[in-house]
Amino acid sequence: MTSPAPSRHKAGAPRSVWTADLASPDATASLAHAFAAIATPGLCVLINGPVGAGKSFFARNVIQTLMAQKGALEDVPSPTFTLVQTYELGPLDVWHADLYRLTDAGELIELGLEQAFDSALCLIEWPDRLGSLRPDGAVELTMTPDPNHQDRRHVRIDGPTDLITRLSSAMEIPPE
Ligand SMILES: Nc1ncnc2c1ncn2[C@@H]1O[C@H](COP(=O)(O)OP(=O)(O)OP(=O)(O)O)[C@@H](O)[C@H]1O
Ligand SMILES: [Mg+2]
Repeated sequence: MTSPAPSRHKAGAPRSVWTADLASPDATASLAHAFAAIATPGLCVLINGPVGAGKSFFARNVIQTLMAQKGALEDVPSPTFTLVQTYELGPLDVWHADLYRLTDAGELIELGLEQAFDSALCLIEWPDRLGSLRPDGAVELTMTPDPNHQDRRHVRIDGPTDLITRLSSAMEIPPE
């Protein structure tokens, strides 16, 4: 099998926005399945949202979908204390980071995150901690809890138009 070509998106590429209301964890899992299907090396997803929004839930479902495609099922532990968990899901490497407790962005350089931005699928919670390491052209995914419905989340995905087009057709909801 040939590896998918790296597709790190450059700043300045056309971008589009896709939004949806996710009525339940199952709806968020469906979005994660669709996302896993279009994930490529060099794609960085900056996952924004408050504590408990579902950032880890989304990331874990993306990773578990990719694992299931390989016939592998490992634990997907939270990277809250380790900062990063990595998965070799050939042809795709996945980095899942939770930067909530990051105090020094230099730690991320030591971990090799900059190289991972070029070669892996990166799923980054609390990306505001990245500072100047924030990659150009990343997908910005924002999950917002609905104050009136415990299990409902609003999701907004701002990303390269080619990816948003594929995602919106998989989800059967047109872009904005
Ligand atoms: N529609 C939904 N989408 C995602 N998660 C949901 C939804 N409805 C309820 N939940 C629940 O909300 C919780 C989200 O927890 P999760 O750890 O993913 O949040 P988080 O955004 O990663 O928080 P933190 O900032 O602490 O890392 C889970 O228990 C999940 O089952
Ligand atoms: Mg989390």
